[in-house]
Order: sequence, then structure tokens, then C-alpha cells
Amino acid sequence: MSAPQDFDLEAKSALKRFGTHTAVDSLSFGVKRGSFFSILGPSGCGKTTLLRMIAGFIEPDGGDIEIGGRSQRGVAPNRRSVNMVFQQLALFPMMSVGENVAYGLARRGVGRAERDSKVRAMLERVGLPGAESKRTDELSGGQRQRVAIARSLVLEPTLLLLDEPLGALDLKLRERMKIELKQLQAAFGTTFVYITHDQSEALVLSDQVAVMNAGRFEQVGSPQELYYSPATPFVAGFVGANNRIEGRVSAVHGALVDVATPEGWVVRAQTQTGPDGRKPGVGDAASAFVRPEVAVLGRSAAELDLPPAAAPAPVHEGVVESLLFDGANSAVLLRETKTRAEFRVALPQTGRYADLKVDERVVFSFAPERAVCFATGGHG
Ligand SMILES: Nc1ncnc2c1ncn2[C@@H]1O[C@H](COP(=O)(O)OP(=O)(O)OP(=O)(O)O)[C@@H](O)[C@H]1O
Ligand SMILES: [Mg+2]
Repeated sequence: MSAPQDFDLEAKSALKRFGTHTAVDSLSFGVKRGSFFSILGPSGCGKTTLLRMIAGFIEPDGGDIEIGGRSQRGVAPNRRSVNMVFQQLALFPMMSVGENVAYGLARRGVGRAERDSKVRAMLERVGLPGAESKRTDELSGGQRQRVAIARSLVLEPTLLLLDEPLGALDLKLRERMKIELKQLQAAFGTTFVYITHDQSEALVLSDQVAVMNAGRFEQVGSPQELYYSPATPFVAGFVGANNRIEGRVSAVHGALVDVATPEGWVVRAQTQTGPDGRKPGVGDAASAFVRPEVAVLGRSAAELDLPPAAAPAPVHEGVVESLLFDGANSAVLLRETKTRAEFRVALPQTGRYADLKVDERVVFSFAPERAVCFATGGHG
């Protein structure tokens, strides 16, 4: 357990309503000092609203936000030890890079000489040494984003809030900036609260990720916990690629259950306690989730190369629907033979099965212990 003084940020039943719509629904959580905390969720789930409450641009309708252990009730945004980097980064176009970075310091009344030396050091640390006199339109998108981050970090905030800061960049640049952001955060030790709807960004960057849905956190955990032990069907479906098989539980074998689809396909998976505290039992509506990389493929059952597991893994038959080539992330989309249910299997890195043809018959399987199953409400 963490002591409260380990937290730079704590939300205590923070609530925000817009009319009848609850944008942030009584959220409570803590962000540890020096950590990289991401909030991952679909569009409209309340991420920006939460960040704006933390920054002080909107007041909560209920509950409280504490920064560095102190309630922020009635504390104006510029009095909070917080800085925010926006998705549409707002550098001042008529100012030089140096003036942009110095802006907040100047407003605080920091003298010229100290300002200049802090700006110089900060630009060096974000990989833009000597860029002070450049105009912002002479910079690439990634360089501008680094200036925006430098401008915030130079104020040495307790908390840096970042609202989809890479959203405006192209894919290649995002990939690079992702790594740079992580390195910057580690070097500065500043606590980052980072919003994204890109799950790969959240997984790569974060110490802790909160998966947000409809104003609430469905799960807060390490990237590994979210990926391997999702707490809810929403998390299982949202974080990483996953096959979802919906049906009813037809049998229970200890910690494993069989889920039968309405069309009659039966898969076996490990039961999980759902958000309502229940495990699926016989007759319950349920969803099983199987990651593409957990499943294996073969031209015959003898070829299936399953990792050793406690329980025997049922073997399924399918037909190749399409090959999804994506380098190391290549996969094959199958249809289960009898029910035509779709199922995605990752292709092995060895290049084996790269020559599969559409309509070819294959078998596939997965260790039931590595698939998860939640009750989804309803018994019949
Ligand atoms: N000022 C406002 N007045 C009324 N409704 C608002 C206001 N700001 C946000 N909302 C609503 O609150 C909900 C959450 O909005 P928010 O901007 O926090 O979502 P988000 O998770 O940041 O989404 P996105 O990923 O698209 O940026 C949405 O339904 C939005 O329409
Ligand atoms: Mg937003």
C-alpha cells in the first residue's frame, strides 16, 4: 500500500456534470510521485473533462482534487503546481522558440539572466540545443511538440498533464516522440498524467494505466495487468487485439468453463470474477476473450504447437478468410468451419504459414488457461 504522501495527485469522488450528463462520475484514484500515469478511453468518456478539473479550468460539482496533498478547492489554475500540454499545441507564432519557453518564467517575474540560462538548459534537455532564436514555423511537428513540452517543464510543475500531445503528429513521428517522452519523463522525474485513446501509446509509456469508460475507471493497473488480467469485458475488448466469443456457459470444469455460441461453437476459457463480483456459471450469458497470439495454427492437429498446459486444449477447425500481413504483427483471419464465427490467430515470427491461401482448411487451438471468460449478465 502507498501512503497518501506518496501521491502527487489524488482525486476524491471527483464529479462533473454537464446538464443531465455525468462526464466524470465520482472518480477516486491516486497518482504516485514521479510516475507516468495514463488515462486511456474512447472518445467522449470524460478524459479531457477530468484533466481540466485537475488543471483548475473547471470546478468539480462534487468531491475534491488534491495536488501534493493539498485540496485544490478554490485554487486558480495559475496557482496550481500543474502544467498542461494540449493536443492542439498552442505555441505563440510571433515569438521565437526561446521566447515561447521563457514565457511562463517571465510571467512569474523571473529575471532575464536566470530565464536565459533555464531556457538554454531546457532546450538542451529536449534535444533542441541552441534553438532559442528560431521561429516556430521553422520547426517540424515533433520539434514544436518538444518546445511545447519544454515550455511546461521549465516551470518545474509537480504534475504535467498531457492531453493527447501526439495526436496531431503522423504515425512515424508519434512512434519516435513516444520514446522521447518516456525518456524525458524518466530524466526529469516529473509526474505525468497522460491522456490518450491509443492503447499502444498507453501500454508503452505508462507505469499505471486507467481504462476509462463513461466517466468511470474500469480498471487501474500496470500495462501487464490490463493486458493479461483484464478486470472487465470492456477492458478485455479495449486493450490490445482480442477475439471475443459470446454465448452461454454450457459446462464448468473447475476454473474453466465452456462457452457455447448461439450457432453452437464451443470454446473453453478461464473464468474471471467480473465487475459485479460474479463468476460465470452454467446457463449464464458470457463472453470469452482469446488474444490472437495465444492461439496457434496448423494444417493438422499434429502440427499444433501448444505450450504445456494443465488442461487439454480443445482443437477447432477453420477456413482461412484472409491473411493480414503486418510484418511481425501478421495474423490470419479464420472462420470456424461449422458456425462461420470469425477468429484471428497471430502468425508465428518464423514465417511458417506465411504461404497459407484463402479458403485453405486449418486447425487452431489455444490453452484455455490463457483465455478469459466473464459473465455478461442474464441467465437462461
Ligand atoms: N463544456 C461542456 N458542456 C457540455 N458538455 C460537455 C462539455 N465538455 C464536455 N462535454 C461532454 O462531456 C463528455 C466528455 O467530454 P470530454 O471532452 O471529457 O471527452 P474525452 O474523453 O476527452 O473525448 P475525446 O477523446 O474525444 O477528446 C462528452 O459527452 C462531451 O460532449
Ligand atoms: Mg478529449
